[in-house]
Amino acid sequence: MKKKITIVPGDGIGKEVTTCGKNVLDQIAQAYGHEFVYDYATIGHEAIESTGEALPEESLVKMRNADAILFGAVGHPKYDNDPSAKVRPEQGLLKMRKELGLYANLRPIKLFDELLEASSIRPEILKGADILFFRELTGDVYFGERGRKDDGNTAYDTMIYHRYEVERIAHKAFKAAQTRRRRLTSVDKANVLESSRLWRSVVQDVAGGYPDVEVEHMFVDAAAMKLIQNPRSFDVVVTGNLFGDILTDEASQIAGSMGMLASASIGDSVGLYEPIHGSAHDITGKGLANPLASILSAALLLDISFELKEEADCVIKAVEQVLKDGYRTRDIAGPGTAHEKILGTVVMGNMVCNNIRLLTAVGSISSD
Ligand code: IPM
Ligand code: MG
Repeated sequence: MKKKITIVPGDGIGKEVTTCGKNVLDQIAQAYGHEFVYDYATIGHEAIESTGEALPEESLVKMRNADAILFGAVGHPKYDNDPSAKVRPEQGLLKMRKELGLYANLRPIKLFDELLEASSIRPEILKGADILFFRELTGDVYFGERGRKDDGNTAYDTMIYHRYEVERIAHKAFKAAQTRRRRLTSVDKANVLESSRLWRSVVQDVAGGYPDVEVEHMFVDAAAMKLIQNPRSFDVVVTGNLFGDILTDEASQIAGSMGMLASASIGDSVGLYEPIHGSAHDITGKGLANPLASILSAALLLDISFELKEEADCVIKAVEQVLKDGYRTRDIAGPGTAHEKILGTVVMGNMVCNNIRLLTAVGSISSD
């Protein structure tokens, strides 16, 4: 199979981790006889520095021309305490999502058994948790009208949803639920917000077409609590942009660490794959970042955009094996992890590539 992949490393640890993701794709291409051709595009702080724009047109063209996009992160501390900055790295991210029509953000939350101890939640609560989040990504308060009034002393953002936006993501979530445990939780704040009342009624309408899926509506505050109290009670979760942003960071604790969580953004055309962890400037350039979320994002890319299920499974098995062998990056190391088992970004990435080589050479790795 011949495919074009645009790599968008972005800011902070984005570069370090997407390099590992790309190496894994190369390893897979070599092992399975595919040809992946790469192009690179800039976004975020890096793009602002070189062009003045958070998402230059040239980058968008490269993204549109790709069969899939592997993305790193955007953000820079310089803007965090400067509310007056006119151009911000995050604007590039939001524009990219909107322009590419990436309305559905899938965030699978699955704990590798080896990482049961890495989470701040008790293992007996976590074990067996397996949740698939569908976060709406191109609507809500992220894209509603916003502004200032009263000489800047009043500020507003608008939470807004249109029926078609809820319908299309609801269909995706119901279809996914049909392939899993056939339970869908729709999260909103319909006791207070009008946009949530529309959300709830549209999800209810769409549910009529999926009689085999059991639907439950939950307020976001209750969902935030239940996620930690009993994560195993969730199968597929569908929610709006803001609630999804917050709940999936919370849910990353169910997967042990933010450094483990991959995501896929899909919609009208090209799919985009990225770790959820963000730019992490505190550890940028130190070689400490966990590359596994980017590597698992590459697995999602193979699975969803290229329909290469076997190759995707191979990447996941290779990651599993590294963890079984006791290797950890700093973020997922426990108190019992031996010093020599704590790896930096590059070595961890190479370990996964090695395992892919082994898995594809002999067909399997012993699992003891
Ligand atoms: C995410 C991030 C972004 C978001 C930020 C960087 C704008 O937190 O992808 O979850 O809020 O969507
Ligand atoms: Mg977020």
